Amino acid sequence: MKDPMQFADRLNNVETSAIRELFKLLGKPGIISFAGGFPDSAMFDVAGITEAANKALTEEPGAALQYGATEGYNPLREQLAAFMGGKGVTVAPEGLIVTTGSQQALDLIGKTMINPGDKVIVEAPTFLATIQCFRLYGAQVIGAPIDEHGVKVDELEKLIAEHKPKFVYLIPTFGNPSGATLSLERRKKVLALAVKYKTPVVEDDPYGDLYFGDAPPPSILALSSQVSGSRDWLVHCGSLSKVLSPGLRVGWMIAPPELLARATMCKQFSDAHTSTFAQATAAQYLKAGRMPATLAHVRQVYAERAQAMGQALKRELGDAIEFTQPGGGLFFWARLTGANGKLKDAGEFAKRAIEKGVAFVPGAPFYASNPDTATLRLSFATADVAKIEEGIARLGQAL
Ligand SMILES: Cc1ncc(COP(=O)(O)O)c(C=O)c1O
Repeated sequence: MKDPMQFADRLNNVETSAIRELFKLLGKPGIISFAGGFPDSAMFDVAGITEAANKALTEEPGAALQYGATEGYNPLREQLAAFMGGKGVTVAPEGLIVTTGSQQALDLIGKTMINPGDKVIVEAPTFLATIQCFRLYGAQVIGAPIDEHGVKVDELEKLIAEHKPKFVYLIPTFGNPSGATLSLERRKKVLALAVKYKTPVVEDDPYGDLYFGDAPPPSILALSSQVSGSRDWLVHCGSLSKVLSPGLRVGWMIAPPELLARATMCKQFSDAHTSTFAQATAAQYLKAGRMPATLAHVRQVYAERAQAMGQALKRELGDAIEFTQPGGGLFFWARLTGANGKLKDAGEFAKRAIEKGVAFVPGAPFYASNPDTATLRLSFATADVAKIEEGIARLGQAL
């Protein structure tokens, strides 16, 4: 028998994603999927991106096709700094680095900050890939409870005081998977906690621009000017993935200079730099001033879909399910109530739903520990209103 290949011990901390297993079933013909975390490819601004790519190749072919600086392509850093400026964040182009998606920013944070055995506090539930990424670096990941207004800050303070985490990771605006948005008051409390406990807070914000009605509160980073000393403890991750295109793999990280320098060093050994062609294209796109119209369009389409999904869930599942209507983002986070002897286990519900031709993701894998097995995540992003209504009707039959 062949000798087995030996792998690093760090892999022992991480399981293959339960969600990935479910995705294998999605190939079944006719399945309506609410399972993905993707934006709708039908909404990509292909004309705008084509124009931007053409400009990148004609106006700056050397830069767009050559190796580039690890920190990022300067014209893009300037555009991103201005984009953040429009959202109340004062940042110089040198105050951010471009990353290969915000996923890479999370990886760089893990790489630069986590020693094996360190504790990290996240929301319960949170983005599954973050839990996996931090565990890969040996972190003990601890979940802080949330409600519809985001993380419960009093509980968070108790956990910080007890565990002295290396940092706290939050998705404060239209969270994945929770859809929840941290209230203004809680945002300020989080800033105060960062200062009081000298604990870095990572704000992951890929969804903040995808709001449907009123804008959400300013980002924690934007609010840091109101809490003295808090900016020194803040890391902010942004991304063009959900609003423009995930295939561009353009994200960014704003952090204190000492962290940014170390993250840049690690990025150098990882991918040298984010694709210069993608960066030059993104820079041209932002420079052309197309972003406001693109945002208005995606907000409007997702708002219609979210509304349709909320109404269909109420109509078809009634008291078997409870949820808060999301004000933005891509997701409904819901909980089976078990009313009238109906199903309470979302894993079992997911299996029955697939048999009826509809898919969603059970909520349990999004918890670092103590999963709530009655929870589930439904994305309204990729199906049109008719498909949403049909899919939720099928869900009603699967209960
Ligand atoms: C909360 C959160 N953070 C980060 C990412 C990674 O996005 P990207 O690497 O495409 O910017 C995602 C993608 O689903 C996400 O939901």
